Amino acid sequence: MRRRNFLLLSGGGLAAAGLAACGGSGGGGGEGGGSEVEVFTWWAQGSEKAGLDALVAQFEKDYPDLTFVNGSVAGGAGSAAKDMLQSRLQAGDPPDTFQAHAGLELADYVDAGQLEDVSDLYEEYGLTEAFPSDLVELLTLDDMIYSVPSNIHRSNVVWTNTAVLEAAGIDPTAVPADVEAFIADVEKAAASGVAGLSIGTTWTQVNLLEAVLMADLGSEAYNGLWTGGTDWSGGEVTTALEHFEALIALTNTDRDGLDWTDATQMQIDGSAAYSVMGDWAVASFQQAEMTDGEDYGYFPLSGGEPIFGFLADSFTLPVGAPNPDGAKAWLDTISSQEGQVAFSLAKGSIPARTDVDTAEFPAYQQTAIESYAQDAISPSLAHGAATPVAWLNDISDATSKFTTGASDVSGYQEELATIAESHASA
Ligand code: GAL
Repeated sequence: MRRRNFLLLSGGGLAAAGLAACGGSGGGGGEGGGSEVEVFTWWAQGSEKAGLDALVAQFEKDYPDLTFVNGSVAGGAGSAAKDMLQSRLQAGDPPDTFQAHAGLELADYVDAGQLEDVSDLYEEYGLTEAFPSDLVELLTLDDMIYSVPSNIHRSNVVWTNTAVLEAAGIDPTAVPADVEAFIADVEKAAASGVAGLSIGTTWTQVNLLEAVLMADLGSEAYNGLWTGGTDWSGGEVTTALEHFEALIALTNTDRDGLDWTDATQMQIDGSAAYSVMGDWAVASFQQAEMTDGEDYGYFPLSGGEPIFGFLADSFTLPVGAPNPDGAKAWLDTISSQEGQVAFSLAKGSIPARTDVDTAEFPAYQQTAIESYAQDAISPSLAHGAATPVAWLNDISDATSKFTTGASDVSGYQEELATIAESHASA
C-alpha cells in the first residue's frame, strides 16, 4: 500500500511527498554496545567534509567514549554512495547509521524493511516540537518515524562570479526576471569567452532540470509532476525542456567527467560565470575565502513566483546496525541545537530545528531562512524529496541521453512522460 499524497503547503509549510507504506522493521538491530560508530555519508571531500567534521567535533564533545568511524563514499548527491549502501544493506552489512534524504527516497529503504522506527527518540530527545510539523510528517509513515534530519538545503539557486559578470558587461546585482532572461545573460557571459554555466555529471544536470521546471511551471504545477496533477506531455513542460536545452548548450563540454565541486571550482577560478546548484555551494565559496556580494552572488532561479526547492539530509537507524546505541548517540548529536548550528554553519544549509538562534548566520543563509519561511516549497527531484530512487534513476538516464545528444526535446519529453506513467502506476 503506497501513499502518494503531497502536502501542498506554502508560507512556511512544506510541500512534499508522502512516504510509502508497507515497510516494516524486520527485527532489531544488534544488541547495543561497542565504542565504534560507523557513519555512512557522501560528505567525503572539501566543504562537505568540513560540514561532517563539524558534526564529528560536536559528537566527540557529547560522547567522548564513542569513536566516530568515517564510512563516507565520495561522489556528489550520493552518486556512488547510494549503490554501495544498497549492496551493503543487501549483504546484511549495514553501517550504524547512514545519510538519506527526507521524502520519497526514504520509502525505498522502508519498503525493503531496512530501517528501524526511531519515533521513541523523537520523544526522548524532544524532537517532535523542535522540528516543523510538516518535516516530521515527511519522515513519518504509519505513525513510525524513520530518520532524523540534520539540516535543510535549498536546491534551486543560481551562483555568480561577480568579476566574470562585470567583464562580460552584465550587472551582477540585477536578477533576471525569468528563465528566458537568465538564458540571455548566460549567452552574454558565454560570448565573453568563459563557460556561461558550469555544470558536472548527470545528477548536476538533473539539479538544473528541476530548477528550470520549478521556475517555468511554478510550484503547484511542478509539484503536480510527481503527484499526477501535471501532464508531462504538456506545452509548459516542452517550454521548460527547451530552456533546459538552451542552458545545456551554454555549459562546459567536459561536464560528464566532473562533479559539482569541479563545476563550482570553475566559478571560483573565474572560468565560468554562472552555476545552478544547491546551497552547499556557498560553503565552497566561503572555503575559497571569497566574499559574499563582492566576489560571488546568488539568486533563486525564478519565473516570478518565489519558490524554495526543498531537501533535507537525515540520518537513519538501519535494521541490524552493529552498534544501535552508538547510532542513537549520533542521532542525538545531529538533532541537537549545537549539532544543527555547527553543521549548517559549515555546510551552507539552515537548521531544521525551529528553536535555534540563527541571528548570527551568514548573509546567504539569512536569505534561505527567509525564503523557507515565506515562499512556496517544492520538493527536490535530484535530492530524494520528490520521488523514490527508481523514478529519479530513470529520469537521470533519460537526461543523460538528452544531454549527450542521443535524444531531442520531443523524444526526451515522451520518455519523461512514459517514466512518470510507469512510476505513478507502480
Ligand atoms: C545532496 C545532499 C547535500 C550535498 C549534496 C552534494 O544530495 O543532500 O548535503 O551533500 O548532495 O553532494
